[in-house]
Amino acid sequence: MADAATTAESVRTDTGTRDDHSFLWRRLHSLSGVLPLGAFLCYHVFENLSALRGPAAYDEMVNHVNTLLPRPFFYALELVTIIVPLAYHALYGVWVAATGRPNVGRYAYASNWGYLAQRVTGVIALLFLLVHVGTLRTWVTLLGNHLAPVNADGLDLVTYRDVAAHLGNPASLGVQSILAGDHIFALYGIGTLCTIWHFTYGLKGFCWTWGIAVGRLAQRRVTQASWLLFAVLSVATLSILFQMRFGAVG
Ligand code: HEM
Ligand code: HEM
Repeated sequence: MADAATTAESVRTDTGTRDDHSFLWRRLHSLSGVLPLGAFLCYHVFENLSALRGPAAYDEMVNHVNTLLPRPFFYALELVTIIVPLAYHALYGVWVAATGRPNVGRYAYASNWGYLAQRVTGVIALLFLLVHVGTLRTWVTLLGNHLAPVNADGLDLVTYRDVAAHLGNPASLGVQSILAGDHIFALYGIGTLCTIWHFTYGLKGFCWTWGIAVGRLAQRRVTQASWLLFAVLSVATLSILFQMRFGAVG
C-alpha cells in the first residue's frame, strides 16, 4: 500500500473507450471484489469469531446461519450473492493476472510490488478457497462426510470439531488425511492472510476506479484505513485459527 514510485507498468489507463467492449466486465470485476465479496469476508470473519466462545457457541452460530431461511432460499441466496460473484471475480482475475492487463480506471500511485502482489495474492486466494469451500461447504456440509465424529440431531451441518480436525487439532483429528492436518493449517495461515491483504489493498484501486478517492490526500487516507482493516481482520482470523487448532474441542 506504499505510495512508491509510479511506473509506466503500474499506471492503470482508463479503458472506457468506444472500442473497449470489456469495460463493463472490468467494472463488474472491480465492484464484485468489494460488493459482495469484501462485505462477505468481513461478515464471515465476524461470524467465525464465535469459535473464541467455544465449540457449543460455534455450532449454534452455524445452525442459526443455516436456518435463517428455508433451505432452497438459503442455497439460492448463497449462490447468487457469494458463489456466482466469486466464480466471476476469480475467473476474470486469473485472466487479468495471466495476461498482465490493467483492470479499470487510472490509478497513478500504485507501486510495482503492489501491482504484482495483487495478482499473486489473487491466485493464492483461489487455491485457498478451492480447498476451503471444497472441504467445509461441499465435502462436509453438502455431502455429509464429517472429518470428526458427530452426534447429528436436527440438520447435519459442519461442526466446530470438523473445522478443528481440518486444521489438524489432535484432540479432534481421527486420521491424518489430505483434507486434515498440519499442511491445512499452514495453507489457512497463508491463504487467509493473502486473501485479506488482496481485499484490503484492492480497496485503494476500487476507491480510485469509482471516483471515491482520487487525490493524493484522499488516497493516503484510504491506504491508512485499508491497513487498519487489514490488521483487524488478520488478528481476528489468526485468533480463530489458533483457537481451533490448539484449543480444547469440548
Ligand atoms: C478467488 C480468487 C481471486 C482472484 C484470482 C482475484 C484476482 C484479482 C485480480 C487479478 C485483481 C486486480 C485487477 C487489476 O487491478 O487489474 C483483483 C482485484 C480485486 N480483488 Fe480479487 N481475486 C480473487 C478473490 C478476491 C476476493 C475473495 C476478494 C474479496 C474478499 C477480492 C477483492 C478484490 C478487490 C477489492 C480488488 C480491487 C478492485 C479494483 O482494483 O477496482 N478478490 N482480484
Ligand atoms: C478463520 C478462518 C475461517 C474459518 C474458520 C471459516 C469457516 C468456514 C466454514 C465452517 C464454512 C462452511 C459453512 C457451512 O457449510 O455452513 C465456510 C464457508 C465459506 N467460507 Fe470460510 N472460513 C474462514 C475464512 C474464510 C476466508 C478468508 C474466506 C474468503 C473469502 C472464506 C470464504 C468462505 C466461503 C466463500 C464459503 C462458502 C459459502 C458459505 O458457506 O457461506 N472463508 N467457512
